[in-house]
Amino acid sequence: MVAWIPDNKIKEIQHTADIIDIISETVLLKKAGKNFVGLCPFHTEKTPSFTVSPAKQIFHCFGCGCGGDIFRFIMKQNGLNFPEAVTTLAGRYGIEIESQQISPAQQRRITEKEQLLDINNIAMLFFQSVLKKAQSSRKAQNYLAKRGMSEILIDKFKLGYAPSGWDNLLKHLNQKQISLSMAEKAGLIVQRKTKNGFYDRFRDRIIFPILNPGNKIIGFGGRVMDDSLPKYLNSPESPVYNKSKSLYGLHIAKSVMRETQTAYLVEGYFDVLALHLHKVNNSVATLGTSMTDAHVQLLKGCLGSEGKVILVYDSDKAGIKAALRSIPIFNQGFLEVRILVLPSGYDPDSYIMEFGKDLFLKIAADALGVIPFLIETAVKKHGVSVEGKIHILNDLIKPLAGLSDNIVKTLYIKQLAERLGINESAVLEKVKTSSIQQGNRTLGQSRAPFKRLPDIIEGQPKNSGPAATEYDVNKGINNRIEVQLLKMLLQFPEMAEEIRKKKIIDLFEDQSLKAVGKIILKHDDTAKERITDILIQVNEESQSNLIASLLLKEEVWDHKGCQRLIEQFTIRHNRHQTDLLQKIKDAEANNDIGLVTEILQSKQNKARQSDVLRRQN
Ligand code: CTP
Ligand code: MN
Repeated sequence: MVAWIPDNKIKEIQHTADIIDIISETVLLKKAGKNFVGLCPFHTEKTPSFTVSPAKQIFHCFGCGCGGDIFRFIMKQNGLNFPEAVTTLAGRYGIEIESQQISPAQQRRITEKEQLLDINNIAMLFFQSVLKKAQSSRKAQNYLAKRGMSEILIDKFKLGYAPSGWDNLLKHLNQKQISLSMAEKAGLIVQRKTKNGFYDRFRDRIIFPILNPGNKIIGFGGRVMDDSLPKYLNSPESPVYNKSKSLYGLHIAKSVMRETQTAYLVEGYFDVLALHLHKVNNSVATLGTSMTDAHVQLLKGCLGSEGKVILVYDSDKAGIKAALRSIPIFNQGFLEVRILVLPSGYDPDSYIMEFGKDLFLKIAADALGVIPFLIETAVKKHGVSVEGKIHILNDLIKPLAGLSDNIVKTLYIKQLAERLGINESAVLEKVKTSSIQQGNRTLGQSRAPFKRLPDIIEGQPKNSGPAATEYDVNKGINNRIEVQLLKMLLQFPEMAEEIRKKKIIDLFEDQSLKAVGKIILKHDDTAKERITDILIQVNEESQSNLIASLLLKEEVWDHKGCQRLIEQFTIRHNRHQTDLLQKIKDAEANNDIGLVTEILQSKQNKARQSDVLRRQN
């Protein structure tokens, strides 16, 4: 699998890259003893079970069971294969991998994404230089100035201008000998209806490059400078651009988000720019799309479990609707959300431009939590006539009943009763009936419909979610010993020689544990980089998960204990063999060929089954 990228290159990358650096770009990590812990980016959790070991350069999640080395992390996070992950990391650290080391077919597949990123970068530089230099860009410069954008901000966000005309970028790309079909794939040029040639997608527009957290350009947005339509034009989805997984401004905002554990989430490009202009640097925007789970995961990765997101949407109907729609998504992701309703007619951009940072921060500090927001929205919608109050109550009952923290629930019930000027016990009664109707359904749901206040539990990561690496669950005692032996091999390599001599691994019943054991034994037991070497050789994700989990559940090993484990395994194995032999002998004595075949088959099936189980994990 790695034959075409030389080992020394992989080693070089491994030595240069640090797993803590890379992972903390997207996951908020906190020191916990020898390791770092954070919220797993690969499953939804409230308490951190995602563990990274700087000493071993591995990660492992005690919640969902994923794990492996730095390459595995990059693969999983970005949906890449191994060579892609290697080249990505190499690029990050300026390590060159010569292309002749890669076969042409492989290179095409592997570097497609990189090529698209390269082309996007070339386009960005083109738009940027047009904005700065060209005569024709006067209009664009004036427009940006009129909107209050500073030189520094324009540079920071790499803003540009796509000139009018049908083929300015096209010509530039041709000059640079860029493959036009790749440029089309990147969404920069569009094929003519007549199919003879291409034209520029972005024409006479201000250009907003969209960068990923690794500072690579994945797409563009373009705004007209007058009232023509569409106001904004965006890159289409491509192998590098998925708008439901991207947030505009995250590459700049992420570090401040991490420090402040707070993010402002807005809807527009100019909203992000205006906030950053006023040094509210923890601001990001969704890209003309509604909130998704992936956005929440992305935010949570930077904010941590105590993080807070303040939605600053337009106060018009559409803005309120968008906020309402996104509440359940945040709740499912266990991320605290507050909703800042701006005075009518303002969006974050126009508000902060007119009233300044201090006032913005002041109203942001008063941003409503979910229930108060729902109350205020309902009051606005229905009014406080008798009928209005009945409607408001109906709107609020379900969200209130869904709150699992009783104190919080009581407080909000009080607040609602006061707001409506009705008796608290009447509201309470109604909520109770509704809770009973919703019944255990609410309790049993793994994802509460409304967020519970975060449990403040420090220390040991609690297991949550599917325990995919609990290899001893539902497995026979033999397998438990086999798992234990692997753990010993990894953590106490002194025993490897003996395991080799006694051919213990060959006796393993579990095919996938056997495969992992063989990989481990292939490596020099005394090598300093034994673990990283082993992990590189691992093809299957389930094997990587297993090894990482075995490495992180550390135990104290001594020679005697190890010897006992090996002995135990051998005795059990022998006894099992003797039993089996006896059974076969008996069956043969009874001339029961059917039984003989059955016994042999069941033995084979068992081995296969355990293999299937591993794969499913
Ligand atoms: N949007 C889009 N396509 C459109 C309109 C809007 O992708 N045709 C997205 C853009 O990301 C835009 C955001 O939705 O920034 C919000 O749109 P809107 O409120 O209409 O624009 P503003 O961001 O307020 O832009 P401006 O201040 O320049 O009018
Ligand atoms: Mn605006």
